[in-house]
Amino acid sequence: MNTAKEIKDFFSTVTIDKSWAFQDKTRRETSYITHSYHRYPAKFIPQIVDRLIDKYTNTGDLVVDPFGGCGTTLVESKVLGRNSIGVDINPVAVLISQAKITPIEPLLINQEFINLKNKIYGYTEEVQIVLPSNERIDYWFRPEEKRKLSFILDKISKIDNEDIRNFFLCGFSNILKNCSIWLQKSNKPTRDFKKIPSEPINTFVRQIKANIKKNQEFYSILEEKGNLNISCLVYPNDARKIPTNDNTVSLIITSPPYVTSYEYADLHQLTALWLEYTENLPEFRKRFIGTTYKERKELKLNSKIAKEIVAQLSEKRKKTANEVENYFGEMNQVFIEMSRILKIGGRTCIVIGNTSLKGVEILNAEVFNEQLINLGFEIEDIIKREIPSKNLPSTRDTKTGRFTKINNKNKTFAYPVEYIIIGRKI
Ligand SMILES: C[S@@+](CC[C@H](N)C(=O)[O-])C[C@H]1O[C@@H](n2cnc3c(N)ncnc32)[C@H](O)[C@@H]1O
Repeated sequence: MNTAKEIKDFFSTVTIDKSWAFQDKTRRETSYITHSYHRYPAKFIPQIVDRLIDKYTNTGDLVVDPFGGCGTTLVESKVLGRNSIGVDINPVAVLISQAKITPIEPLLINQEFINLKNKIYGYTEEVQIVLPSNERIDYWFRPEEKRKLSFILDKISKIDNEDIRNFFLCGFSNILKNCSIWLQKSNKPTRDFKKIPSEPINTFVRQIKANIKKNQEFYSILEEKGNLNISCLVYPNDARKIPTNDNTVSLIITSPPYVTSYEYADLHQLTALWLEYTENLPEFRKRFIGTTYKERKELKLNSKIAKEIVAQLSEKRKKTANEVENYFGEMNQVFIEMSRILKIGGRTCIVIGNTSLKGVEILNAEVFNEQLINLGFEIEDIIKREIPSKNLPSTRDTKTGRFTKINNKNKTFAYPVEYIIIGRKI
C-alpha cells in the first residue's frame, strides 16, 4: 500500500470495528475523574486513549500528545502509570490540562475552597472592584456579571499555591460562557441578547463543588495505584516543537485539529480575555493549524492525495484550496517532529475523520497515511470506528463546510466514522 491509488483503495476496504465505538459507555464513564472539569470541543473519550496505551506501552514509558487539547491523553497516561508530555498552542487548553493532571490532596482543596468561598460570599454592590479594561469583555458580559466575575477572579489570583490557583481558574474558565451572553449552544462566537446569563457566584461555587468531587476520585485512583507522582508535563507549544529529546517516546496519541472547522482561538476567547492570554487576537489565530486566518505558505505536502484534493478545491474556491494546502503542509511538519521524538519501534496513533469542503472530499486519513509512509513509517493498523453522536457534532453545512444543526437542509454528515491510524517508526 504505497501509491496514492493503493492507499485510497485500501481505505475503501477497511470495515468498522464496533469494539472501538465504546457504545456501551455511559456519560458518567466517559467523563469520569477530571475529564469533566471543563468543556472542550472535539475532545476524545478517555476509553480510546486508555486502550491504546494499554496495548502499546509498558509502565514507565513516555507518551506524548502534540495536540493535547484539554489533556485527555495526559490524564489517562497518569492513571496507567506512564510518563507523559502534552503540548497545545492554546493557553486555555494548557490551563485546563494543567488543572486536570494535578491531583490535589482532598483535605487541602476542601480547606482552600472554604477560604475562597468565605471571601467571595463577601461580595456586595458597594465593594470596591478593579474592573478589567479590555473592551471585548463588555462585548460579551453585562455589567453585573462582569463585576462579580472580576471579584471572584481577584480572590483566586491572590492564592499563592499555583496548583490550587489553577484548579480554581479552570473552574472559573468553565463558567464564563454561561455567565456571558454567548449564544449557549453555539460553538461560534455569537451573541444572544435574549439570554439571561447565569449568576456568577453561585455558578462558580457549584462548578467547584463538582470539580472537587472529581479531584477526589482522581486522587484516590492514583493513590491506590501508586501513581500520584508520575511525571506529566504540559507546555504551551507548537506541535512542531515538542520539548523532548530525539528517540525518547514510546507512543504518541493525538487527534489533530480539522481544517476550517473549529477556530479554537475564537472559541476560547472568553477565558483568554479574562486571563489576559492574548493581546493580539488576529496574530494569535494564525498560530493554529487548520485555521482559515492564514496566508498561503509554500509548504511541502509530501502526498499525492493531498495535491489532488488541493487541485480539485482550486477549481471551486482558491481561498479554501490555500487553507487545505497549508493544513496538509503543516501536518506533514508535525509528522516530521513525531518521527524525531519517537524511539525506533515507537508508534503514533492519529485519530482523524474525513470530511468535505465545497463538495470536495477531504481525505485527511488517506493523506496522513501517505505522508507517514513517505516519512518512513510503517502503517501497522488502521481502525475504523463509529463516533456515537453524543461525543461529536456530526453535521456540516455543505456550502460553508462548517458544523451545523441537524435540521439544516444543506447538512452533510461529517464524522459518522473516524480512523485511528497506527504508524510505527522503523
Ligand atoms: C481536536 S483538538 C484535541 C483535543 C484533545 N484530543 C482532547 O481530548 O482534548 C485539537 C487541538 O489542536 C490544538 N492546536 C491547533 N494548532 C496547534 C499547533 N500549531 N500546535 C499545537 N496545538 C495546536 C488546538 O488548540 C486543539 O486543542
